[in-house]
Amino acid sequence: MGGNTFGKIFTVTTFGESHGPGVGCVIDGCPAGVPLTEEKIEHELARRKPSSVSAASTTRREADKPEILSGVFEGRTLGTPIAVLIRNQDQCSDDYAALRDVYRPGHADWTWEAKFGIRDYRGGGRSSGRETVGRVAAGAVAKAFLSKSGVSIRGWTASIAGINVPQDNGFDIDFAEGNPLRVPHREYAEKIRQKLEILRTEHDSAGGVAACSISGVPPGLGEPVFDKLDAVLAQAMLSIGAVKAVEFGSGFASAYGLGSALNDRFAPCSVPLSFLPSGAPSLKYATNNAGGILGGVSTGMSIEFRVAFKPVPSISQRQLTLDHKGDPYELSIDGRHDVCIVPRAIPVVEAMSALVLADMMLLNSINR
Ligand SMILES: Cc1cc2nc3c(=O)[nH]c(=O)nc-3n(C[C@H](O)[C@H](O)[C@H](O)COP(=O)(O)O)c2cc1C
Repeated sequence: MGGNTFGKIFTVTTFGESHGPGVGCVIDGCPAGVPLTEEKIEHELARRKPSSVSAASTTRREADKPEILSGVFEGRTLGTPIAVLIRNQDQCSDDYAALRDVYRPGHADWTWEAKFGIRDYRGGGRSSGRETVGRVAAGAVAKAFLSKSGVSIRGWTASIAGINVPQDNGFDIDFAEGNPLRVPHREYAEKIRQKLEILRTEHDSAGGVAACSISGVPPGLGEPVFDKLDAVLAQAMLSIGAVKAVEFGSGFASAYGLGSALNDRFAPCSVPLSFLPSGAPSLKYATNNAGGILGGVSTGMSIEFRVAFKPVPSISQRQLTLDHKGDPYELSIDGRHDVCIVPRAIPVVEAMSALVLADMMLLNSINR
C-alpha cells in the first residue's frame, strides 16, 4: 500500500529518514545460500558516499557502516528476510531549522505535506537522497545473488551541465570508476569538474545524465505485458529522487528515425542457446537499437539505457518561495548539498537495475 516496497519475488522495503536514527532495507525472497557479508554491502555504500575530492559533492560525511540484523548466517543467506541498518551520524539538523515552515522550490516539501499533512523537514526526511542508502544496500544483495549468473551492471556519467561525454574517441569505461565524477573520459572529466566549480561559487546546481549498461542477460527475461523488462526498469529509475526521464537504446532519437534503419537485425547463432525453452530457435541479434529489450523481453544483447537527473533543488542562491501561511519568503538554503547528484546516483541506478534483474530471474523461473 505505502509505496515503500519494490519487487514481486525478490522484494525490498526501504525505511528511514535523512535525519532520523538510521536508514536501511528489508529484503524478502532472496534465495538461501548466497554468499553475503557486511563488507560487500559496505563496498557498494562507499561508492554512493559523497566524495571529499569531487566538485559535485555535498560535504555531509557519514561512515555508512551496514549492520546485517537478520537473514545471514556464517556468510550466507538463510532464505529468510535480510534486514540491513545503516545509522545516521552526521545529520547537522540545525541547518534545516529555517525550513520548518518554508517550502523549498523544486523539492518535495509542500507536496509531501499536501499528502501526509506532516513532514520531517530536516534534510527532506524520506524524500532526501539519503533514502537511496537502503536501495544501494539492497542492490548489493541483489548483485550477490546475480554474481553467478554472468550478469554485469555498469553505470557512468554521460553528461553534466550540458557537457556531453563523447562515446567514441577517448571513452574509457575503466576510467569512470577511478574518478569522483564517474566520467569515462579523462579530458571531459576535467572539463566537467571546472564547470561544477564555477557553479558551486555561483551557489547553483546542474542536472545530468547517467548511462547504464547491463551485459550477460540471457534472452527471455521480462513479464509482458504490464511487467515488461523496460517498463519495470523505467519504474525503478523514475522512483529515484530527481529523475525526470529514462530512455532505452535509441530512445527519443527513434521517434525521428526510420524503421529501415532502426529495426534490429538478426544474425545466425552457431551454438545452441541452452537457456531457451524447447522449440525456440537459437538466434541472436547483430544490432542493438532497441537497447536489449523487444516486446518487454530481453534480446540477449546488452541492456542500454540513460537516466536524466534534474539539477539538485536545494541551492544556496537566494530564491523566492512561500511559507506555511502563504507569505513570501526569501530563501537561501544553508545545508550541505551536491552541485550535481549524477556521480553519486550511479550506484543507485546500478542497485535498482540489480533489484529488477534479480526479481526478473526469479519470475522467469516460474513463469515460462
Ligand atoms: C543520491 C541523491 C542525492 C540527492 N541529494 C540531494 C541534495 O543534496 N539536495 C537536494 O535538494 N536534493 C537532493 N536529491 C534530490 C531530491 O531527493 C529530489 O529532488 C526530491 O526528493 C524531489 O523529488 P523529485 O525531484 O523526484 O520530484 C538527491 C537525490 C539523489 C538520488
